Amino acid sequence: MKNDTKRLLEWYDAERRILPWREDPTPYHVWVSEIMLQQTRVEAVKEYYARFLEKLPDVAALAAAEEDTYLKLWEGLGYYSRVRNLHKAAVTVMEEYGGVIPGTAKELRKLSGIGEYTAAAIASIAFGEPVSSVDGNLLRVYARRELYRESIKEPVAKKLAYDYYMERMPEDRPGDYNQALMDLGATVCLPNGEPECFRCPWADLCEAHKQGVETEVPVVPTKKARRVEYRTVFRVHCGEDLLLARRPDTGLLAGLYEFPNALLTENSKLSKKEQTERSAAALETFLKTSGLTPLSTFPLPTAKHIFSHVEWRMTGFDLEVESLNPVREQALSPEGHELLVTSLSDLDRYSIPNAFDAYKY
Ligand code: ADE
Repeated sequence: MKNDTKRLLEWYDAERRILPWREDPTPYHVWVSEIMLQQTRVEAVKEYYARFLEKLPDVAALAAAEEDTYLKLWEGLGYYSRVRNLHKAAVTVMEEYGGVIPGTAKELRKLSGIGEYTAAAIASIAFGEPVSSVDGNLLRVYARRELYRESIKEPVAKKLAYDYYMERMPEDRPGDYNQALMDLGATVCLPNGEPECFRCPWADLCEAHKQGVETEVPVVPTKKARRVEYRTVFRVHCGEDLLLARRPDTGLLAGLYEFPNALLTENSKLSKKEQTERSAAALETFLKTSGLTPLSTFPLPTAKHIFSHVEWRMTGFDLEVESLNPVREQALSPEGHELLVTSLSDLDRYSIPNAFDAYKY
């Protein structure tokens, strides 16, 4: 084993993070955790991970689960296509692999939602396959250690990092090696600002550190600006009953539930006054098209939610209406989404994304 690998593993044995999925790393556990961790911080994942496994303890249970069940377990984690793919892959495992999760990165890669990184993470951690799982953490560690000054967003950077780590891969502990690098990236070789090199087992081997230029690498080109959408959210109720809409099966927040809302404009900035005016007009249109009659109307606070490619700037209205009957038949939300009437006591059954937190009851 190369000396730097040995040093890294010793550091990991002493400093590794205690994480639930590391305690019993079955293929299913590792798989679920890696999917949750794809776009979400470790701290946020812990609670979801425990709840998910309690309800869906194995791949057979996941494959047999209803959509509403797994969506509900994912509520708040965001990027819901992850759990849809996870479910789809579980069905594939049951139907095509006899219920046994495949044990190589190459086979894992064929399942929905498992890309190169995730396949390598599962194969190395759960099955001991010597493959490097190059994610943002590993790229940053590599770029600093080798003082790689090109963009780490280019595919060539990933290839170089992969080869670099493979040369140092310990045959007997591939999963620990990958996880040591993940922990090093997440807790020592920090992004945004000063890394904590005084705690790094590789500090004396690191080119960026030797030259005192740790904050100049990795090079990450700036992202394209997000699309900005202004929306007005309608919280409509009649006694204990309230109105929700179901989002379509494709696109942003597919299949989740929402408070009916209207798009005011996208990509042109609205002043406060314009936002108020347009939102009043959207209210009027909504009332007209839905046939609802308000008994009281009051404005709700503004709120903002940032997705990966879109930003919502919202305002809202709370409407007590005379009756919800006009929408029981065929009315649609301002966005053309199917409306449904539910009651406050049943609200828990519906997955409403965090984007609507400011308007939840
Ligand atoms: N991020 C993604 N996978 C991880 C793992 N197994 N350990 C720590 N952080 C991670």
